[in-house]
Amino acid sequence: MQPISQSPTEDAFVQNPYPFYARARALGDFVYWTDYSMAAATSHAAVNAVLKDRRMGREAPPGFETTPPPALAPFYAVEAHSMLEAEPPRHTRLRGSALRAFTGRRIAVLEPSIAQLADQLIDAMPEGGCDLLEAFARQVPVIVIARFLGIPEIMAGDLLRWSNAMVGMYQAGRSAQDEARAVAATNDFVDFMRDFIKMRRKDPRDDLISHLIEVSEQGAESDAPTLSTQELISTVILLLNAGHEATVHSLGNAIKLLLEHGQKPTQDNALALSEETLRHDPPLHMFTRWVYEEVEVLGHSFKPGDQIACLLGSANRDGDVYDNPEVFDPARKLIPNAAFGAGIHFCLGAPLARLELRTALPVLFKRLPNIRLAGTPQYADVYHFHGLRRLDVTY
Ligand code: HEM
Repeated sequence: MQPISQSPTEDAFVQNPYPFYARARALGDFVYWTDYSMAAATSHAAVNAVLKDRRMGREAPPGFETTPPPALAPFYAVEAHSMLEAEPPRHTRLRGSALRAFTGRRIAVLEPSIAQLADQLIDAMPEGGCDLLEAFARQVPVIVIARFLGIPEIMAGDLLRWSNAMVGMYQAGRSAQDEARAVAATNDFVDFMRDFIKMRRKDPRDDLISHLIEVSEQGAESDAPTLSTQELISTVILLLNAGHEATVHSLGNAIKLLLEHGQKPTQDNALALSEETLRHDPPLHMFTRWVYEEVEVLGHSFKPGDQIACLLGSANRDGDVYDNPEVFDPARKLIPNAAFGAGIHFCLGAPLARLELRTALPVLFKRLPNIRLAGTPQYADVYHFHGLRRLDVTY
């Protein structure tokens, strides 16, 4: 496996990581990324092979677990009960419980309220221009997921603050201050959720939290999966965090791409356009897997305890799968891309995220027919999320 170096925080890489991915793919399906001291899967085939192979997973194998410093314990206690950090059989139970509440029917009925929300946000925009990341992309996902879960919308500001602070734990080169902020936010979030779940237990509504509580209670008396209160809290926090941050940046990246390429999404073409924006510039670029046993993948050997970074953004630009992969081409043949991952951890919220994109984008472009970029948008230096710092536009 060939070594390759690239600081994940170098500005040229943050602004445009794709030339590095192309160099890495040219070296093989796997490279050794020296800055992370880790193998990285670069091609569509390698990323999918790793994500779909049950001999590799998210949970650390025996002997490789780390005990977080006591000061960070509250944050890792929530992670410990998250389906994203679990493997079967725990993952099957946690994901199964969430899926029983998070159904396609419950997602589909959100469409009119997403369109209405997009309209309201546009009504509230100042004359002439604004930062669309703040005024639109940041607002839609948090309000949609809060409504879906049944959390009052006036909590949206707190949810955003908590979630932003918590995801700060994933950024490259986080500081002690980032950690302290993440732990304080976790404590506030957990306290709020504990009280809220107690309230919904007594007074259930037609919302996702009440349905999750119902699933957890039913499970105790049947063969259905069960959820402890701690797991219920982690699931709701995961849905809120995963449910908004990635969607914020998928909306931001999509609007930027559409404006750069003079494309106008309508109800008819929004699905194809948003799928191509997710392929071309996805909001999440790297997820890692632990290796549990001796394995050989595409001619490369791995041993228990190795870690492999799956480069989703690189898989999406693989010329063996996509013609002219660097070109943004909404008319291209639809081939599944890696933006939502693959295998058992495939994004649980993908149907909701897709609905938000294909509903909110046509409203934005219809209501603001003269929308233009004001300057060149800059990406933020938060490697885990490939998203914009701001998105200034005029209209
Ligand atoms: C465009 C927006 C989104 C993108 C690009 C995205 C991407 C991803 C990816 C790549 C994974 C897999 C991680 C891995 O394999 O290690 C994932 C998992 C997950 N996502 Fe999303 N996501 C988005 C929106 C959402 C939304 C809206 C929700 C929920 C409301 C959500 C909930 C989840 C959950 C619960 C998991 C963990 C699934 C599991 O471990 O079984 N995501 N997402």
